Amino acid sequence: MDNKRIHGGDIERVARTYGFNTSDILDFSSNINPLPLPRVVKDYLYEHFDTLTRYPDRDYSELRQALAFYTKMPLDYLLMGNGATELIYLTVQTLQPKRVLLPVPSFGEYEGALQNNNCEITHYQLREELGFKLDLPNFLSVLKQGYDLLILCNPNNPTGQLINKDDMLTILNEAQKTNTIVLLDETFIEFVPDVSGTSILDFLDGFENVLVLRAFTKFFALPGLRLGYCVAHPSLVEKLAERKEPWTVNGVAALLGPLLLKQTEFIRQTRTWINKERPYFSEQLSQLNKLKVYETYGNFILLKLLEKGATVQALQEKLESRGIMIRNAASFHYLDNTYFRLAIKDRSSNMRLIKNLEELL
Ligand SMILES: Cc1ncc(COP(=O)(O)O)c(C=O)c1O
Repeated sequence: MDNKRIHGGDIERVARTYGFNTSDILDFSSNINPLPLPRVVKDYLYEHFDTLTRYPDRDYSELRQALAFYTKMPLDYLLMGNGATELIYLTVQTLQPKRVLLPVPSFGEYEGALQNNNCEITHYQLREELGFKLDLPNFLSVLKQGYDLLILCNPNNPTGQLINKDDMLTILNEAQKTNTIVLLDETFIEFVPDVSGTSILDFLDGFENVLVLRAFTKFFALPGLRLGYCVAHPSLVEKLAERKEPWTVNGVAALLGPLLLKQTEFIRQTRTWINKERPYFSEQLSQLNKLKVYETYGNFILLKLLEKGATVQALQEKLESRGIMIRNAASFHYLDNTYFRLAIKDRSSNMRLIKNLEELL
């Protein structure tokens, strides 16, 4: 597999190598919400098991209704997908862009989808000296050169940086002028401190060139459910829908989606947890020697080992032998074997990691 498309969460490998039960491993490599889902979700699946004896509704009407309510967007702006990943691949396959602008380091599957379709990729380097923050004037001057597609991830995985709404609107306006379609991945946006003040969903009716991607994967901690969605102008949604295979969202996902969106207490608790734990964990990590901690707006943190000759691979092996997984970030463009990413977990797990890092660094 392409090195750029490595992912976190390979828990089975660590369990096999070191003889752990998977349930005993503390996984900081995969960026998902650590709070347990309410019991009602499991019970509902059990009680409605018979739904699986039928094909799912091809239009996913109930699911889209629930999402229309959750996102406050019209029904015809919504298209469901098998995780955000299906929609990344479907967008590229449908639009067949020739020239693509891709700020990096960022999520590896963009590259996968673009390579599958032989796109010409221009990597825009997010610079370490700027804490990986986008240099807006410089970026706009590059965007002006004219691309068929721009892919943006906000907040960006793995850097944790956020493009604020004003800057994002400036970018989208510029893209509109040059007929550039923008695929804006908001998979982690529900974790940022001010979701509605950051997401551009409210502005979508002014942009026929923008597709926003979201998923249940990270916030509802269900990567195995494979449920994502795209929010875009109906003209774009129709184009994608024409190319899409039927039933890629399975019956379990279609069943659970509306129920998940109604878990207002879980959503509230998640926001409380992340707003408290993100600054706390970042601060605790900053106090460790030989480590640089980058600012983050997501539910994960990018770090760099500062000691000369230190490698993440060595740290990773030591932590794995103690049943703790981290994400080596060397597979991302412009990052090397001194960078790693940590998911933000519950307080006691975070403190267990800090204690282990104190011993190992
Ligand atoms: C930025 C980003 N977008 C999309 C995805 C994929 O989401 P899904 O599992 O819903 O396909 C990931 C997974 O890590 C991601 O980091």
